[in-house]
Amino acid sequence: MCGIIAITTSSKANVSKMITTSLKKLEYRGYDSVGIATINNGKVEMLKDVGTIDKVNKRLSLENLQGTIGIGHTRWATHGAISRENAHPHSDCTGNIIVVHNGIIENYLELRNTLQENGHNFSSETDSEVIAHLMEEELKQFNQNLSMINAFKRVLTKIEGTYAITLIHSGEPDTIFLARKDSPLVIGVREDTKFAASDIPAFLEYTKKVIVLKNGEIATLTPQAVYIEKNGFRVQPKPVIISWTAESAQKSGYPHFMLKEIHEQPIALKNTLNTNPAEIMKASNKILEAERIIFLACGTSYHAGLTGYYQFQRILGKKPLYKVIASEYETYSHLIDEDTLIIAISQSGETLDVMKGLTPARKLGASIVSVVNVIDSSIPRYSHISLYTKAGPEIGVAATKTHTAQVALLARLALQVEHDIGLMSATEFTHIIEDLNTLTPQITRLIINQNEFKAKQLASKITNQNHAYFLARGYNMPIALEGALKLKEISYIHAEAFPAGESKHGPIAIVEPDFPVIMIAPNDWTAQKMLSNTEEMRARGAYIISVTEQDHRIIKRSDYSFILPEVTIPLLRPITHILPLQMLAYYTAVQRGFDPDKPKNLAKTVTVE
Ligand code: F6R
Repeated sequence: MCGIIAITTSSKANVSKMITTSLKKLEYRGYDSVGIATINNGKVEMLKDVGTIDKVNKRLSLENLQGTIGIGHTRWATHGAISRENAHPHSDCTGNIIVVHNGIIENYLELRNTLQENGHNFSSETDSEVIAHLMEEELKQFNQNLSMINAFKRVLTKIEGTYAITLIHSGEPDTIFLARKDSPLVIGVREDTKFAASDIPAFLEYTKKVIVLKNGEIATLTPQAVYIEKNGFRVQPKPVIISWTAESAQKSGYPHFMLKEIHEQPIALKNTLNTNPAEIMKASNKILEAERIIFLACGTSYHAGLTGYYQFQRILGKKPLYKVIASEYETYSHLIDEDTLIIAISQSGETLDVMKGLTPARKLGASIVSVVNVIDSSIPRYSHISLYTKAGPEIGVAATKTHTAQVALLARLALQVEHDIGLMSATEFTHIIEDLNTLTPQITRLIINQNEFKAKQLASKITNQNHAYFLARGYNMPIALEGALKLKEISYIHAEAFPAGESKHGPIAIVEPDFPVIMIAPNDWTAQKMLSNTEEMRARGAYIISVTEQDHRIIKRSDYSFILPEVTIPLLRPITHILPLQMLAYYTAVQRGFDPDKPKNLAKTVTVE
C-alpha cells in the first residue's frame, strides 16, 4: 500500500516530470493524496495535496518542480485522515530532511512523544513523520559529526514495525537513503540515473535493470552508484533484467487496465502453463511427502487457493487439507510442524497477512510452496519452491488475469500429483497436459469475445440494484465467491456468495422481485440441485442470471444466461466460469460511474495487517 518513487540523476533532466510519470504507474497502490519533493540548488522544494495524481498535478504543477534528485509518494491512508498535512513527503523541523514511507511504525506514538518533549514540532498525524524528526535528532545529537548513512542506520534501530523508506537531505543533495523491512522496495539502474520504487512498473519506462532490496537491507543511491549493506556488511548487488515491457504497464488503447487485463487472460494463461516441469515435479513431491497441507492466501488469491483445495481433495483422498484465510493463520497454528506443507498464493508476493503466517510456520519446520506473480518478491524468497504465474504486471486493483493464472497453475500441479500418485497413466497425463496448454487460451479467448457484449447489456439491468447473491455448490463455490468479490469491490453493490443449499436457511429472506441472483450451474453433479435452488429463487421473483454450459433446463428458468461451451477438462471451470462475472463487474462499475482500476479504500499490495 502506498507507492514510493525516488530518482537521482546526473543528466540535466528535472526529475519531477519522471517522478510524476512514475507515480501514475503506482497509483494503483493508493490514491488518497500525492506529493513530490526535490532538492534544487541545495534547497528543498515540496508540493503535495489530497486527490489523484492528475488532479493534484493540474492544481499544483508537480512536474514543474526543479532539481535532479527527488522523491514522490501516493498514499493509502493508515495513520491520520486523508488531508494535505498527512500527505507525504514529510519533513523534519528544519525542512532539510525529507522522507516518504510505506508501512506502519508501530512505536510511533512513543517516539513522537519523546521527540515533542525534545522540542520537535509535528505537522501531520502520520507515523511516517517521526522518521524525519528522528534523523534530525540523531544529526543534532552528534553535532553533525555523524555521517548521514550512520544517522540513518541509528534511526532504523529506533523504529519498530514495517517500512519501505526513502529519505533525502539537502546537505547531501545527490544521495537517496533507502531501507526496507516487510514493505517492498526495488532499485532501478540506468548508467546516469538510479531509481527506487515500491514496484517495477514505476520505472519500467526508463530501465529494465532491477535490484530487489531484501528485508533488512539499507542502501544509498547516487546517480552513478548503488551501495547496499545488511547488518553492517556490504552486499554485492545482483541486478536482473526484467522481461516485462513498458507497454505491458500501459493501457494500450483500453479505457481501463482492468478491461485490458481481462483481455490479456488467454496470453497470461498460455505463458503460465508453459511452466518449468521440473519445478512442478518438485512441488508435487513436497505435496506427496506432506502429512497435511494448508492453502494460505487472502482475497482473490484465497479463492484461487480454494480451487486448489477442492482439486487436491479429489486426488489426495483422506490426506488432511485446510483452506486458511491468511489473516486467520493463528487459528490454525497448532497444525504446523515439519510434516506440514503450506501452499501460499499471492499475486504481489508481498501481502503481509501471508508473510505473517509463513514466518512462524517456517521457523517450526513447515515446507512452503508459493504461487506468485511478482518475481523475487518476499513470499517466493521465503519459500522452498516458488511457482510463478506469468501474467505480467497487473495494474487494476481488482485481480483478474493473475487469478485465472493462479487457478491454472494449481490445476497443472494437481494433474502432476494425480500422475505421480499413480491415478493417471503417463499417456493420459501427456494428453491432458497438451489439451490443457492448447485449450485453455483458446476457450478463454472465445468466452471473452462471446460474452463481453452480453456482460455490458446485463450490467445496465443490475446497475441500479443494491444487492446481489452468487450461488454455487461444492467445488464451484470459489467461482461464486470470486464473482461476488469482483462485483462488490469495484461497483460497490453489496454482493454475497454462499452455497446454494444454504439460501433457504436465511439469506432468501431478503429476496424480492428483481433481486439479482447469479447461479453458477455447470454440467456436473451440482446441476440438478442448482435447478431446484433456481426455482426457489424464481418463486420469490428474483432476477436469475445463470452461468451455464448449454443446460436448457437452467437457461429456460433464467432471465439472463451466459452460455459457455461444454468444458471437457473440469479443472478449467474456475477459469471459464469466472470470465463473464469479471466482465459483468467491470461494466457495472463503469455504468455506475466508478473507476474500476481504483476502487475506493483498496490498494493493490496490502502490506498492513
Ligand atoms: C481483489 C484482490 C485482493 C487480493 C488480496 C491478496 O480483486 O485483488 O483481494 O487478492 O489483497 O493480494 P495478493 O494476491 O497480492 O496476495
